[in-house]
Amino acid sequence: MTSQSPPHPLAMPRLRKHAAMIGTATTATGEHSMVLRRTIRAMAATALLLLLGASQRSALVDYPEGFRRWTHIKSGVNGPAYGPYEGMYNIYGNAKALRGYRSGRFPDGAMLIFDLHRVRTESNGPQPAERKFIDVMQKDARRFRSTSGWGYEEFAGGDRNNRVIAPDARMKRCHSCHVAQQSADSVITRFSD
Ligand code: HEC
Repeated sequence: MTSQSPPHPLAMPRLRKHAAMIGTATTATGEHSMVLRRTIRAMAATALLLLLGASQRSALVDYPEGFRRWTHIKSGVNGPAYGPYEGMYNIYGNAKALRGYRSGRFPDGAMLIFDLHRVRTESNGPQPAERKFIDVMQKDARRFRSTSGWGYEEFAGGDRNNRVIAPDARMKRCHSCHVAQQSADSVITRFSD
């Protein structure tokens, strides 16, 4: 009996074609997983950018919508020695700020506004003229952790689109002065009915 070894499978034309197809499929899968990896990487990068964007946005002080209808805390006049703060001002606080004045600890959401105007001398004496800027303090212990929970912003002309204080300048430009009032939670003005 002659033992005839079977032909090598790849010697058979149909199987060779099949093997070639499998090879192609393997390459395609390789490319596919590379594309998949790249897509995942791109998605992760996008998610990171969105997160960073969101955290930067949330670190901005909110515009104090309707602050002119809040509670009036104090008015005053600053002379030329006060430089950019020269003018007539009113300070306003929202309902949460009033809770802070009562308890001595300002809760998250408390907002205080320093609303400064130029002075024009009329026949009856000095009168408030156009708005120079509003200075805003907003309490949020988490968002503004590095400045005792207070976010600071200046809106030139009171314009919501004209922010003056970069988030990383809050300490130097604003909080460095306010923080001296530690026992009053960094708020300088006192309130009385
Ligand atoms: C040189 C010190 C100093 C700096 C710097 C300063 N402030 Fe004030 N701020 C004051 C004083 C003093 C008052 C109180 C004015 C009053 O009661 O007549 C005040 C009052 C305020 C108030 C009213 C609430 C309170 O604490 O009495 C707000 C709001 C405010 N400042 C925001 C800001 C912002 C925003 C900045 C930065 C752009 C800033 N301040 C920088 C000294 C400072």
